[in-house]
Amino acid sequence: MKFSLKNKWVLITGASSGFGAAAARAFGREGAKLLLGARRVDRLKKVTAEARKAGAAEAHFHELNVSKTPSVETFVAWATEKIRNPKSEIRSLHVLINNAGGAHGLDTIAEGKDADWEEMIQSNVLGVLRMTRAALPLIPRDAGASIINIGSAAGHTVYEGGAAYCAAKAGELQITRTLRHELFGAGIRVSTVDPGLAETEFSLVRFKGDAARAKKLYEGAHPLTAGDIADILVWVASRPPHVNIDELLVKPVDQVGISKVYRRKSG
Ligand SMILES: NC(=O)c1ccc[n+]([C@@H]2O[C@H](COP(=O)([O-])OP(=O)(O)OC[C@H]3O[C@@H](n4cnc5c(N)ncnc54)[C@H](OP(=O)(O)O)[C@@H]3O)[C@@H](O)[C@H]2O)c1
Repeated sequence: MKFSLKNKWVLITGASSGFGAAAARAFGREGAKLLLGARRVDRLKKVTAEARKAGAAEAHFHELNVSKTPSVETFVAWATEKIRNPKSEIRSLHVLINNAGGAHGLDTIAEGKDADWEEMIQSNVLGVLRMTRAALPLIPRDAGASIINIGSAAGHTVYEGGAAYCAAKAGELQITRTLRHELFGAGIRVSTVDPGLAETEFSLVRFKGDAARAKKLYEGAHPLTAGDIADILVWVASRPPHVNIDELLVKPVDQVGISKVYRRKSG
């Protein structure tokens, strides 16, 4: 039987835009209770209101920088207060979505910048480790709980200029696989959802605000939307409790390789 997300606590990192914001709305439609984190709190406030409007039983937000251990610890202490509140009917975390991350720059290794490499490893790799370590005590055993990490098609292949991002997402994949082994017998599901080309703020961030360059990447193509991935996240978390979707690679029909994208129209 489908696992009901109604009144279940769902924690989403990187909820201020893209997949995370769409996931907040999608889990909201399921009647879940949401705990949303990211660095841009003005954006989080807006997403929280949208999630409530969509049907969330509760929705709360707090600043979070997954690249900093103290920020993760403060965020999880805040989340713990919400979840363990005596008025809360369910006092554990049923879904953790480690989504915060992204790419910074597209330089070759010869031209690579330390700040870009460090940010990618900090958020996509160490961020997943830190959040998971901090949130694990809140996640119940044998109760249909899920930890869902957002990887990437980039974790399965390579491309020029993608060394640190591909390494980071390959790292995320191996972290997911390791955690699946470490939680063997605990009755906690562990999954990775690995999208291909999707139109979010991802490229705007990668190209440091160059909107024209970011837009070009999607020109004439039919990329995935944030809503497509959000629907998949809800589906993964709502499978019957004995079903674990281990690894899901999701691409647009017109993408077969990272740069092999069929463009149906020009401009
Ligand atoms: N779009 C794609 O083509 C694609 C494909 C495969 C995988 N992905 C992955 O999907 C995830 C979501 O990306 P997206 O496409 O939705 O891009 P996006 O629209 O840029 O969203 C990225 C989210 O991550 C948050 N974030 C980044 N660094 C953070 C940090 N240090 N601490 C806390 N939050 C942080 C951002 O929030 P703040 O800036 O407010 O902190 C934002 O909410 C990322 O892990 C990305 O690598 C994207």
